[in-house]
Amino acid sequence: MQTPRTLRILVGTVTSTAEYVAQAIELDCADLVDQIDVRLMDDLDPSVFEGAALYLICTSTFGEGDVPDNARSLYDALNRPGLRLDGVRYGVIALGDSKYPQTFCNGGRRFDERLTALGATRVGELLCLDASTELEPEARGAAWCRTWLAEALP
Ligand SMILES: Cc1cc2nc3c(=O)[nH]c(=O)nc-3n(C[C@H](O)[C@H](O)[C@H](O)COP(=O)(O)O)c2cc1C
Repeated sequence: MQTPRTLRILVGTVTSTAEYVAQAIELDCADLVDQIDVRLMDDLDPSVFEGAALYLICTSTFGEGDVPDNARSLYDALNRPGLRLDGVRYGVIALGDSKYPQTFCNGGRRFDERLTALGATRVGELLCLDASTELEPEARGAAWCRTWLAEALP
């Protein structure tokens, strides 16, 4: 398989923090890959996982440990019978708040579970960004992503 040199960041968000994290990564990590493609999850379907890219799910958590509304249709579509994502490699930045200990960062965890169930391979551990303690989620996310890319890009 061709070595992916495109990083595609799929953003699930309500109040834009996850989008700001993705934008910080786009600026900070540009020297490490050929292209960084940031996409809000609105209106995406599983065909977004086609192509020789490396994927980063960057999503917050809402409701009672649910994915954000703009991520709902993509998340549900990942349940389609027969869908397989073997060969897809991805990482996860999960945004949440430890004020919700029972469901902390579940939005990202839900995507992780579903992608793994479809045969995709997660590279590295999840990064959980806690809104109660993390003062600079953008800087933290970008720094984490530099390290993650070093592992994810052979
Ligand atoms: C109404 C509401 C419900 C939330 N529910 C959860 C939750 O169940 N678990 C969690 O970890 N964080 C929860 N959060 C925290 C958000 O995920 C967190 O603030 C995140 O940084 C928001 O990112 P965004 O601006 O990209 O949407 C909730 C926040 C709000 C306002």
